Amino acid sequence: MRVDVVSIFPDYLAPLELSLPGKARAKGLLDVRVHDLRDWTHDRHRTVDDSPYGGGAGMVMKPEPWGEALDEVTAGSDPVIVFTTPSGEPFTQKVARELAAEEHLIFACGRYEGIDQRVIDHAGAWGRVREISLGDYVLNGGEVAALAVTEAVVRLLPGFMGNPDSLVEESHEDGLLEYPVYTKPAVWREHAVPDVLLGGNHRAIGEWRHEQRVRRTARRRPDLVAASALPDDTSLRLAQ
Ligand code: ADE
Repeated sequence: MRVDVVSIFPDYLAPLELSLPGKARAKGLLDVRVHDLRDWTHDRHRTVDDSPYGGGAGMVMKPEPWGEALDEVTAGSDPVIVFTTPSGEPFTQKVARELAAEEHLIFACGRYEGIDQRVIDHAGAWGRVREISLGDYVLNGGEVAALAVTEAVVRLLPGFMGNPDSLVEESHEDGLLEYPVYTKPAVWREHAVPDVLLGGNHRAIGEWRHEQRVRRTARRRPDLVAASALPDDTSLRLAQ
């Protein structure tokens, strides 16, 4: 997979060199290129923003550098262009799976009050665009969101995970949160590991883990339980 990131703070994307995306790069699964939007400006001040038409607080990112940047980075390919913005669709594991099936992603990281809407409309007229939000809060810019989305996507690439089974059981893969996990010692600061996990009865362990997942989800994320196939009375009972 190729990932291009366009930002006015390319140094923000340095973690893409580390850890997980770094491992994917070393394995040849990922080709990441980070670009400075200001490389596509033509004035002495390398201007990327201007005041909003219609008035209002803050500045808006100008369309011209974005247009040139996206033309150049897109050239010869059919990417999904991801605009990271608090006004986007919520980022979920489902979206991560969809993006992981792509060969080329371009992240356009907005700052200030956002990017001139015509950039997004133009990109959408010519190719595939997703506007994605990391969550219902406002960051200073889209860079952290681009990092988070890249990390969630890259770990789904075939061949990335040493043990692909670890992808199957985790939170959000099937709509439930993950069960609690424990390791040695069996008692730590007077807290004991649940007996069922010490007994070696795999059927009982499986049932206990499933119940823990439903309980956790019902307590912490009733919105997920409502969207899942569990009968209402099960989740209500377990949430008590
Ligand atoms: N830029 C600013 N806030 C954001 C958010 N919540 N998600 C994605 N991009 C953003």
